[in-house]
Amino acid sequence: MNTNLNPEIIDQLEAIVGASFLFLDEETRRNYGHDETEDYNFPPSVVLKPGTAQEIASIMRIANQYEIPVTPIGGRTGLSGGALSIHQGIGLSMDRFNKIIHIDEQNLQVMVEPGVITQVLRETVAEKGLFYPPDPSSQGSCFIGGNVAENAGGARAVKYGVTKDYVLNLEVVLPNGEIIWTGANTLKNSTGYNLTQLMVGSEGTLGIITKIVMKLLPANQYNILMLVPFFNAGQACEAVAKIFKAGIVPSALEFMERDAIDWTARYVDVSLDIKDAVQAHLLIEVDGNYPDVLFSEAEKITQVLEAFEIDEILFADTEDQKNALWKLRRAVGEAVKSNSIYKEEDTVVPRYELPTLLNGIKTIGAKYGFKSVCYGHAGDGNLHVNIVKGDMSDEAWKTEVPKGIREIFELTVGLKGTLSGEHGIGYVQKNYMDIAFDPTQLQLMKGIKQIFDPKGILNPGKVLPDHL
Ligand code: LAC
Ligand code: ZN
Repeated sequence: MNTNLNPEIIDQLEAIVGASFLFLDEETRRNYGHDETEDYNFPPSVVLKPGTAQEIASIMRIANQYEIPVTPIGGRTGLSGGALSIHQGIGLSMDRFNKIIHIDEQNLQVMVEPGVITQVLRETVAEKGLFYPPDPSSQGSCFIGGNVAENAGGARAVKYGVTKDYVLNLEVVLPNGEIIWTGANTLKNSTGYNLTQLMVGSEGTLGIITKIVMKLLPANQYNILMLVPFFNAGQACEAVAKIFKAGIVPSALEFMERDAIDWTARYVDVSLDIKDAVQAHLLIEVDGNYPDVLFSEAEKITQVLEAFEIDEILFADTEDQKNALWKLRRAVGEAVKSNSIYKEEDTVVPRYELPTLLNGIKTIGAKYGFKSVCYGHAGDGNLHVNIVKGDMSDEAWKTEVPKGIREIFELTVGLKGTLSGEHGIGYVQKNYMDIAFDPTQLQLMKGIKQIFDPKGILNPGKVLPDHL
């Protein structure tokens, strides 16, 4: 691949996007060289900020001709390194694709550009009484296009599903510069191979998304939010499957280990009075349009919880209190990051296996000498494992931790789970893919990549393992 962008190539790129949307300076390149994955920075050789799909198509034709790597870049909040320009080349920022094109109130759909911030989308449709459920913790700064590329989830996924469940149709620029729509603007579609869903979660390796048609729901009017302190973290995990078994599907069912809540409460300056013996919390929400139904659901949940060793349940009774609890929950990742060098894994198992997963992670940590702070979307069996360096030696961090991570993933897959629930594989997990897939499966994936991108120029070095 060609990472030496000579002046002639730069001139051609400038002719496409215009001088004010091409950046060669070090500061911009570094600024677009990172996301939220550990402390990595891979500055692209040049940052481009195109404004239309046609401009991206022209860029791709040049990239093809000269075999230049192109890495699509969204809000740079990713946690698996999908937006890192690890082979330099063109960093393709989607910043200017920031329009909500059309809210279709007749069909409950929205057509949106990929550079719209997820929270802006959620709030804009909410003004019309509509609901876009996926709510990754980074919603205040992540791009909806990045959510599609990584198939992001969030707390509400447990009841409402993840990003893929809302994507109906996509406009995509292919690596060769052709522009296609992947499907139709329909709720049902069994017409041919599903190119739309192939694109979702492909982490910018198959095409560049330039328009997204999504389905929406009518907004709910009410919710009840409760924070439940457990004296035993394993029991908090056990309670999760029991709640569903009792016939309730909460709109959020989040788990936070003690350290997660303590570190975050300090980080966001929220004060909570938690007894020393409390090991973990569940944050549980039910939502709907009928308060009576919600009260009886909350009641049923508390009955389930009575079988466990819990402290007094905190019911958030004001909007402010609810917001404070959600702010706390969303800031866990950042809080852990501010505390120590860390690595974050995004394990997911069938939810009944959660207690076994948590227990196994702690045993593996003890074996390899690392501490972990676990939290996440327990209702989905999706546990974020933050491995913190603390005072571990650099040597052990480099040699022991990857062995421990491998064992955690082996455990996860052994429990019929997989490597990532919602953060993607990207750069940092690709060399663990052999745990989840055998060579036949990996070859199929490689074949798909080659059909879309025969020269391997689009987001190279992501998703598929290096040896493949
Ligand atoms: C969260 C992000 C890290 O759940 O996925 O907070
Ligand atoms: Zn998460």
